[in-house]
Amino acid sequence: MSESLLWRPGRIGPMELKNRVIRSATNEHLSEADGQLTTAWMDTLVELAEQEVGLVITGHMSVDRQQRSDRGQTVLDAQTDLGLLYETARRVHAAGGRIVAQLNHGGKKAPENVNGHPPKLPADFSLEELDRIVEQYRYAAMLCRRAGFDGVQIHNAYGYLLASFLNHVDNRRTDGYGGSVENRFRLTGRIIREVRRTCGPDFAILAKVGGNGYGSLHRLLELYQATGVDGVELCTSDFDPKIWASRSFCMEELLRAWEGVDLPISLVGGIFSQKAAEHILEAGVPFVSFSRALLCQPDFIQRLKDGRQDESPCNGCNQCYQSFRRQFVRCIKHTASIPQLKKVFGSSENA
Ligand SMILES: Cc1cc2nc3c(=O)[nH]c(=O)nc-3n(C[C@H](O)[C@H](O)[C@H](O)COP(=O)(O)O)c2cc1C
Repeated sequence: MSESLLWRPGRIGPMELKNRVIRSATNEHLSEADGQLTTAWMDTLVELAEQEVGLVITGHMSVDRQQRSDRGQTVLDAQTDLGLLYETARRVHAAGGRIVAQLNHGGKKAPENVNGHPPKLPADFSLEELDRIVEQYRYAAMLCRRAGFDGVQIHNAYGYLLASFLNHVDNRRTDGYGGSVENRFRLTGRIIREVRRTCGPDFAILAKVGGNGYGSLHRLLELYQATGVDGVELCTSDFDPKIWASRSFCMEELLRAWEGVDLPISLVGGIFSQKAAEHILEAGVPFVSFSRALLCQPDFIQRLKDGRQDESPCNGCNQCYQSFRRQFVRCIKHTASIPQLKKVFGSSENA
């Protein structure tokens, strides 16, 4: 067996992980039209755990069915099929993995053609609406806890609601939720504290954070730490497929921002080989996260572990991202038939 750092056990807050590998949230686009979970959604997550991914983070799940970012996005609310949620956690655990649900609110990325009303910027929300959003996150996290999930991840990157609050260009509020970085972070902080209050210390709370930090990454990480969050996943690039290659934040920059912050982190973005992952781990980063490499090959990590492969065949064409919103998310290189998709679409060929 390989001596790679990748296979060493690790810990994030209350979660023991069998290795250092995280599947970064990737919208499966496998819900029913109304956001209900499907067995295909479950099977996709279970397959990753069975193929040696230590921690599987679900694609973003909407805490509000009126604020979805697309029609394939799952929803976590009172109508969610708790049986499927429970079964997903049970099967991931049986495979030796851990599972965390990514919670999100579409914000300015909740389009009118999906929700029937225009998307909103931070200044469009009343204080009562902000209280309601905190409650929606709390409720969604409580469902996950009840179903046996190991934790939740609060999505705070890529321009969705919470990232939009952090972004001083989007956030024009003049009250306690706008202006300073502390104010722009206030909604996120309230959500994390409320989830902690409801779900307790043995339920992991993570955050996904844009690596640019809107110019204040170090301060933001300090604010996260003060909320009692268990870990942070830092994106090494903005999420615009066209500029992924040219706009990566460098690892050294992210590590400088992390200095003096006592929080386990993971880096995500552009990691396509065992060598690249080990380089990051050797620099002292405890975890590495993968998205497109696992869309291309759900068994990518198993292949690394077996020594069958040391690099992903994903060439970053981003067709997976282009397929978004029209059909299930998939890799055009992933030509093997995907049996679980038949349950939803009849046949993977005509989906
Ligand atoms: C098809 C697709 C769907 C994605 N969905 C999500 C998502 O639901 N939540 C999220 O935080 N990031 C999402 N991402 C971004 C990835 O998690 C990751 O941050 C990004 O792809 C960079 O990592 P990579 O180079 O390993 O692909 C998605 C990416 C792709 C390609």
